[in-house]
Amino acid sequence: MRTFGLIGKKLTHSFSKRYFTEKFEKENIPDTTYQLFELPTIEEFPLLIKSQPTLRGLNVTIPYKLEVLPFLNEIDAAAQRIGAVNVIKVNEQGYLKGYNSDYYGFKESLVNFLSNGSSKPNLSNVKALILGTGGASKAVKVALEDLEINYSFVSRTPKNNLAYSELNRDILSAYQLIINTSPLGMYPQVNDCPEIPYHFLNNQHYLYDLVYNPETTLFMQKGLAQGASVINGLAMLYLQAEKSWQIWNEA
Ligand SMILES: NC(=O)c1ccc[n+]([C@@H]2O[C@H](COP(=O)([O-])OP(=O)(O)OC[C@H]3O[C@@H](n4cnc5c(N)ncnc54)[C@H](OP(=O)(O)O)[C@@H]3O)[C@@H](O)[C@H]2O)c1
Repeated sequence: MRTFGLIGKKLTHSFSKRYFTEKFEKENIPDTTYQLFELPTIEEFPLLIKSQPTLRGLNVTIPYKLEVLPFLNEIDAAAQRIGAVNVIKVNEQGYLKGYNSDYYGFKESLVNFLSNGSSKPNLSNVKALILGTGGASKAVKVALEDLEINYSFVSRTPKNNLAYSELNRDILSAYQLIINTSPLGMYPQVNDCPEIPYHFLNNQHYLYDLVYNPETTLFMQKGLAQGASVINGLAMLYLQAEKSWQIWNEA
């Protein structure tokens, strides 16, 4: 018997539970379950590990992606640079290693998106604007660094970043890739979108929205109207889930 699961504070609608339960059924993976483990505080994490001897892997969601770090024996290099873990591999001795599969999901989906059918996209002259500076933006930032794509952050509280009000024709012509890591436009607030001057976009632009519900967000619709290429966060979501499975199963 092998148990996998998700830890978080409030777990109602879980993509991961549905995804893995269906996967185990479809692929006839025997003696394997995926369970939800609601933890009122992260201090209960060691008890969970002790009480679940068949536990082999966890996904981690809000608010524990950072708080779980001190409880791990080892953290993968990318997750360490990001400063957050959303996958934990548990071995039979209870040794815990943390990873960040959002990083892999974003990186792989971005390369596919930019390759436009060719197997090797030319990333050397792509520059990216990252909209938002929250949890998801940290995995995006490290993935861009590893792809050697230059980036700037755009934030409502600029400090060292760009402000939305600074975005003009020159800036938008210098940055071909615009990544929305804010929750703006997510269901049910489907009429919201980041405040960028969409009229300066053209068919040289790529708009990547981490939001995956609705399928075509207002941010994407406004890009499409200008001839830009667009993608939502669904590919990233599926890729990060598959990456979790790969991590839990590798020797
Ligand atoms: N596709 C996937 O696999 C995947 C994975 C992870 C996350 N996501 C999605 O990514 C989104 C962000 O997730 P997160 O955990 O990073 O969220 P978060 O930490 O709550 O917010 C991200 C950032 O968005 C900006 N922001 C928040 N509210 C805003 C507003 N009203 N107007 C303008 N900017 C605003 C803020 O940056 P500033 O304060 O700097 O402006 C904030 O730090 C969510 O929709 C989530 O579902 C998708």
